[in-house]
Amino acid sequence: MKGLFADVYIVLLGPPGAGKGTQAQRIAVATKLVHISTGDMFRENVKNQTELGKLANDYMSRGELVPDEVTIEMLLERISRDDARAGAMFDGFPRNVVQAEALDAALAREGAKVDFALLISVRDEELVARLGGRWICRNCGKLYHERNDPPKRAGVCDACGGELYQREDDRPEVVQSRLEKQKPPAALIEHYRKAHVLKEIDGEQSLDAVTAALLEAIR
Ligand code: AP5
Repeated sequence: MKGLFADVYIVLLGPPGAGKGTQAQRIAVATKLVHISTGDMFRENVKNQTELGKLANDYMSRGELVPDEVTIEMLLERISRDDARAGAMFDGFPRNVVQAEALDAALAREGAKVDFALLISVRDEELVARLGGRWICRNCGKLYHERNDPPKRAGVCDACGGELYQREDDRPEVVQSRLEKQKPPAALIEHYRKAHVLKEIDGEQSLDAVTAALLEAIR
């Protein structure tokens, strides 16, 4: 049986640290939509030392975007799989108009489109604090923050008991570069505004309030 959000395609937009990954994990549970994160896909490739991972790591470690050609090819392969045929939630893709148009074209070939583009807004000072305090489970990927959303036991995942780690690109000098180079460009926001699918969410509310606002926006 298809769920309430079957065939719905959502993109989560926002600067590094806005809460895209955290909220995508929560919304995936609420909507049963598959969560597709290009950042997670690149990190998996880095961990497995694939050719793609080696290439991506050069860019990620400098706080830069991986080239469109490579990113789009990886994303198109991912959405061609069965679990993405009945809707999906994209986290970290698209980052620019070239990527957005590639996604539009791929969905159009299946008679689908982006139904909601949800822009999570957070000020720079708060982004720096969030990225500096982020911890991630090495096993299941659950996200924590040492001050805002700490695990019950320091360094241990509540969900699966896995070890928590901090991302290489959350070092202060890389964070600075990410904040300079990776905020959603105005042209991308305009792309979705023109398509009448853009909604802006205040990302500086509590985790639960942001989740509620996002779910309200797609209801
Ligand atoms: P990616 O992993 O997508 O990184 P990002 O966009 O920089 O986003 P983050 O994952 O850092 O932050 P987030 O918004 O998910 O925040 P989170 O929920 O973790 O990409 C990594 C790299 O891969 C890029 O730099 C690039 O090189 C490459 N890449 C990926 N996609 C690409 C693409 N399409 N094209 C080209 N290159 C690409 O939250 C952060 C912290 O804040 C957590 O600790 C969390 O607990 C806390 N927090 C969240 N919400 C709240 C809240 N409401 N209140 C208090 N704390 C909160």
